[in-house]
Amino acid sequence: MKPTKTIWFDGRFVPWEDAKIHVLTHALHYGYAIFEGIRCNATPDGPAIFGLPQHVDRLISGSKIYRMRLPYTRDQLIKACVDLVKENGLKECYIRPIVFSSYGELGVNPLKNETKGAIACWEWGAYLGDEGMDKGIRCTISSWARIDGRILPPQAKCSANYANSALAKMDAIAAGFDEAILLTLSGNVAEGSGENIFRVKNGVLYTPTMDSGILGGITRASVMQIARDDGIQVREENFTRDQLFDSDELFFTGTATNVAPIREVDSRTIGNGTYPITKKIQGLYMDAIRGKIEKYKPWLTYVR
Ligand SMILES: Cc1ncc(COP(=O)(O)O)c(C=O)c1O
Repeated sequence: MKPTKTIWFDGRFVPWEDAKIHVLTHALHYGYAIFEGIRCNATPDGPAIFGLPQHVDRLISGSKIYRMRLPYTRDQLIKACVDLVKENGLKECYIRPIVFSSYGELGVNPLKNETKGAIACWEWGAYLGDEGMDKGIRCTISSWARIDGRILPPQAKCSANYANSALAKMDAIAAGFDEAILLTLSGNVAEGSGENIFRVKNGVLYTPTMDSGILGGITRASVMQIARDDGIQVREENFTRDQLFDSDELFFTGTATNVAPIREVDSRTIGNGTYPITKKIQGLYMDAIRGKIEKYKPWLTYVR
């Protein structure tokens, strides 16, 4: 990660190296923090943040689920993201807002401590690599199941959830794969460690349902819209591991990843190794986030 100039820290812009917290910060010990991952992309009309209000809304609803008393309004958070990118003079970057239970009491109950927040941004290329974006990535089915709604709320992008993701990701890398695919407790396909998953079979696009324990991805929603607008049939429907192996095409979606084809799962080539529908959707999605498609410009917040 290459440091940038400024971080928004509890309502003020501070130099990157000064955005520090105490080692006894409550969130560090118990994972009581809600965060977001947002991208700002270069467009013909200047830098533009994709899905900014949706990301801020997800941060706010996650905070609500966790009874967090957020000291910032929706408008303040939206403005802070835009101002931060402007302050740092970046054309393209990843934006990471986080709200967390701060230093104070260290019992498990976080509500005794103030909630504080920070927003950082930095330049970050394709999360699963440029080659992966083009040629597809190799995945394994994780032995870790995706968190279930009876254990932790999957719709809150809480830091604690990412212990589950990190276990799956580390094991996948150690076994020589690029990414993990997690199943639900009942054995259906859920999602990647930080991405939603789509399957193409006989020209129809399938993605697991919202009640399967996945995170409701903003890229997922945009890709479903783009595919439908292009005349592709899209179904939110759960599928099994067998169906996953038997797909014509598979791909991941996510803010960090954008749209990444999956070429192999546990040493099985997916389909015939080509991804016509994935590539089409990937192209449309990249054009949408880069402000090249008029009808999707309302998804962009320009940094001016
Ligand atoms: C577990 C998980 N699933 C899916 C996604 C994709 O969500 P989005 O498209 O909103 O980035 C993410 C990324 O935030 C994630 O962490």
